[in-house]
Amino acid sequence: MRSIDFENNGVVFTFFSDLGVFSKNHIDYGSKLLVETILKQQPVCQNLLDVGCGYGFIGIVLGKSLNIPVDLIDVNKRAVHLATKNLEQNKVEGRAYLSDIYSNVTEKYDMIVTNPPIRAGKKVVLQILREAKNHLNSNGTLWFVIRKDQGVKSIMKEISDIYINEVIIKDKGFYIVRAKTVDN
Ligand SMILES: C[S@@+](CC[C@H](N)C(=O)[O-])C[C@H]1O[C@@H](n2cnc3c(N)ncnc32)[C@H](O)[C@@H]1O
Repeated sequence: MRSIDFENNGVVFTFFSDLGVFSKNHIDYGSKLLVETILKQQPVCQNLLDVGCGYGFIGIVLGKSLNIPVDLIDVNKRAVHLATKNLEQNKVEGRAYLSDIYSNVTEKYDMIVTNPPIRAGKKVVLQILREAKNHLNSNGTLWFVIRKDQGVKSIMKEISDIYINEVIIKDKGFYIVRAKTVDN
C-alpha cells in the first residue's frame, strides 16, 4: 500500500494506491487534466458516476469539489477496495462497487466521467462510451479523456450518432471531450 497526495484549490486529497491498479505511483496526467477541465466549466450537477475508477481519483476530486455524492465503478476488485477506502479518507459521500462496464449500475446520473481502459480494447471503450447514454439523466453529460495516438478521433466519430462531441482542451496529446446526447 502507498499513498499519493494531490492538491486542488487549497484542498489536499490523499489517495491510497497499490500494486495492480492503474497509475499506482502518481496521478495520471490525463485524469488530472480531465478533472481540472471539468471544474473550470463549473458544471451544475447533482450526482456523478466514474466508470473505470481505479483508486478513485477522478470521482473523488470532482465529488469533493462540487460537493455532490458520487458512485465509482471498476471491474477490478482491488481498485474498488482502494476507491472505497479513498472515499472515506477524503470524506466524500458515495460508494464504490464492482461492475463490468454497466452490469451492476441501476441509477441515472447528471454526469458520467471516464478515463477509459484503452488496454481492454476498443470494443470495451466504445461500450463504456455508448452505453453511458442509458445511465444519463436528460441534459446529462459524458466526459472522457483519450489520447490522440489512442485513436480519439475515430472513437469520437463512432459515437457521433448518439452524442454531440466537443473537444474542450488538447494538451500533450490528451483530448478532453464533452459529449452531450443528441436529443439534449
Ligand atoms: C485508464 S484506467 C483509469 C483509472 C482511474 N479512473 C484513474 O484515472 O486513475 C481504466 C480503469 O478501467 C478499469 N476497467 C477495465 N475494464 C473495465 C470494465 N470492463 N468495466 C469497468 N472498468 C473496467 C480498469 O480496471 C482501470 O481501473
